[in-house]
Amino acid sequence: MKKVFYAVILFTIVAIAVNAQERRPAVYTKWEDLAPTPQMGWNSWNKFATDINEDLIKATADKMVELGLVDAGYVYLNLDDGWHGERDQQGFIHEDLQKFPSGIKALADYLHGKGLKLGIYSDAGTNTCACYAGSLGHEYQDAYTYASWGIDYLKYDWCYTKNLNAKGAYTIMRDALKWAGRPILFSMCEWGTAKPWEWAADIAHSWRTTGDIGASFLPIPQRYDEEGKPLWRALCVLEIIEKNEPLRAYAGPEHWNDPDMLEVGNGMSVSEDRAHFTLWCMMAAPLILGNDLTNMTDETLAIITNKEVIAIDQDPLGIQGLRIKKENDLQYWFKPLADGAWAFCILNEGEQAQTVNIEWKDLEFTDEISGRSPLFATTVYNVKDLWNDSVKPFTSAKPTKVTIQSHDVITYKLTPKN
Ligand code: GLA
Repeated sequence: MKKVFYAVILFTIVAIAVNAQERRPAVYTKWEDLAPTPQMGWNSWNKFATDINEDLIKATADKMVELGLVDAGYVYLNLDDGWHGERDQQGFIHEDLQKFPSGIKALADYLHGKGLKLGIYSDAGTNTCACYAGSLGHEYQDAYTYASWGIDYLKYDWCYTKNLNAKGAYTIMRDALKWAGRPILFSMCEWGTAKPWEWAADIAHSWRTTGDIGASFLPIPQRYDEEGKPLWRALCVLEIIEKNEPLRAYAGPEHWNDPDMLEVGNGMSVSEDRAHFTLWCMMAAPLILGNDLTNMTDETLAIITNKEVIAIDQDPLGIQGLRIKKENDLQYWFKPLADGAWAFCILNEGEQAQTVNIEWKDLEFTDEISGRSPLFATTVYNVKDLWNDSVKPFTSAKPTKVTIQSHDVITYKLTPKN
């Protein structure tokens, strides 16, 4: 009898303990294995702002398949600001049915049928930057809605956040996305204000390191309002490079520095577009196209589909490139690659073409992140020009004489010769 009594007591204690454990809040982590290399895709903002609709998005998806962009790796098609309708009485967000008459879920189904993934946009504050409904206070509800629509990617902005703590706000949405149960890549868009590179590796798959990009290679002049206050100003390619370059130690697989979306095909010259694209690849940046894919030039298409340059960005080692020197308007960049090779590029930020005689031994350096050095004194490299097929491969045994046009790059892959 006594035994039965003790057994009942023990059972009750275990039952209470198990029950208590179940009630303990779950500890969430971010979704894993979504960004072993920087994410690639297209986003509506840079070209179309809030002027988006179902026809445009479907036509863009069709082009991404037809032009080989999906095969090249651009698998995310991301709606930015302006897809939103209103919240209903229960607080659930709905799409704008004027813009998306079939609904976002049908759009996700359409994209998934084509091998694409659908991204969406929201904001940690009360409103998005274009003043649609933000997710503050609705994080779990919105994550649930996105998961039920079949969303694969969330860009989460930082407008109208008043005194919100950035780490806390982004952690809440990370947890909500995990709780909602569908793997969703989490792209933070906090503009680098609270130095997310120092704390967001466990929260997001990428974080913006700068303010918004504009389609300009050189700084866009500051303008002022009637009272003499400076107006908001987009950053140019060169300014963004300066801000993103020092942050290389923080980037790596599953957590990338994001120097903002691409402006290739949005009005810069072909050489500027080529330089912009190359530097984003050297910096292991997310490659999110921002031009009109239904109407672009052959030159633009050739830049964004250069597989060897994309491979620099997508290299599995996942180390952001480093600038070893900047001299007479020329920037010298290296990026260590997984196969023991190096990507190398010289960017000419000046107004004149320059001819240089590259003495490889003089460029010797040690990359503190990979611990590697090219050892040019003892290693001969096969050198391949990645933008110019007419340049026959050569070696680093002799100095290399090369002309770099204004606002342009030369880009090589250096593979050690056995
Ligand atoms: C912010 C972001 C941009 C874009 C707009 C949308 O400015 O940084 O990338 O998403 O909001 O309103």
